[in-house]
Amino acid sequence: MSAFDTPAAASAAGQHWNAQDYAIDAGFVPLLGGAVARLLDPRAGERILDLGCGDGVLTTELALSGARITGVDASPELVIAARARGVDAQVMDGHALAFDGQFDAVFSNAALHWMGNPDRVLEGVRRALRPGGRFVAEFGGHGNVASIVAAVQAARVAHGHGTSTFQWYFPTAEAYADRLRQHGFQVQLIETLPRPTPLPTGVAGWLRVFAAPLLDDLPAEIRATVRSAATTLLDDLPRNAQGQALADYVRLRVLARRR
Ligand code: BEZ
Repeated sequence: MSAFDTPAAASAAGQHWNAQDYAIDAGFVPLLGGAVARLLDPRAGERILDLGCGDGVLTTELALSGARITGVDASPELVIAARARGVDAQVMDGHALAFDGQFDAVFSNAALHWMGNPDRVLEGVRRALRPGGRFVAEFGGHGNVASIVAAVQAARVAHGHGTSTFQWYFPTAEAYADRLRQHGFQVQLIETLPRPTPLPTGVAGWLRVFAAPLLDDLPAEIRATVRSAATTLLDDLPRNAQGQALADYVRLRVLARRR
């Protein structure tokens, strides 16, 4: 049984997470959060909100600074895993952040692309920050995982199903900078970074843990068939020296301040 077949927890975009599968197939996600964590540069005593804290692996790294970190995530299962690591975490939808001026910084790694209404997210982020507080985030930028999405869509069509209408939120830097300004942020840094990303459990593992929103309109017995067909279509992805498939990740990295 995969993460998607468990009734455990619903999260953004209809995605279901299972903490054990997440640790195996997506354990690389927090490990690749070092650059955005350095951009955050947390300081002892600061109050920081980790938006989309997942299973809390990166949150505990941030807490080593002595900052007081609150994690929120839409997945109850991942919040349980984060709490088990000692994170002060709670279940909360990123579209409905219930904070008012209590944070020096809002941080987010690999989560904002799951939140389909960025205006509501930015309203909540702004409200959560004190004036002058910073918003530091990294998530999928325009073109992120385009070849994986294209392979899943092609596999659906090849098996007689139409393409999925689901889309993650992968904006261009220009579009996201405009949105930040509209929400009262001063944009200090915004950059798009192609980051070919080794998949430790291969394309099959990636599809198992992440691709549910592209497949969840299909009967359960068809999903595995389509995943397997998409995996075959992606056989020729480039590989690193260890032979791991490299996914075409594109990161959007942001540092903005609440005016
Ligand atoms: C990402 O981190 O870029 C990502 C992860 C899962 C699905 C889509 C994008």
